[in-house]
Amino acid sequence: MWIKLCTTPEVPDEDVLEVTYNNHVYCAYRISGKHYVTDGICTHQVARLSEGYVIDDVIECPMHNGRFHIPTGRVDGPPACDPLRVYALKVEGQVLMIEVNNT
Ligand code: FES
Repeated sequence: MWIKLCTTPEVPDEDVLEVTYNNHVYCAYRISGKHYVTDGICTHQVARLSEGYVIDDVIECPMHNGRFHIPTGRVDGPPACDPLRVYALKVEGQVLMIEVNNT
């Protein structure tokens, strides 16, 4: 199902916005004018990625500097091993919606 995560003006350019919905933490990004949404917690240990750095199209975890490619979620730098979940999204007006399975 699709959920309304946030509005597009809330998402900073070339940076990250953390959004919690139904106790699940997401990160919303706008990179080169395009929106992306990933899980907000690092797959290595429990760290909030929104407290890390967005470097081009990569998010760097604040805890051990693991890196993930934002558009695909693939690991871009150790010690992270598991990819980050990336969500299908659509923008309706200024509302950013993502597709989730069971929230
Ligand atoms: S918790 Fe993110 S790299 Fe370790």
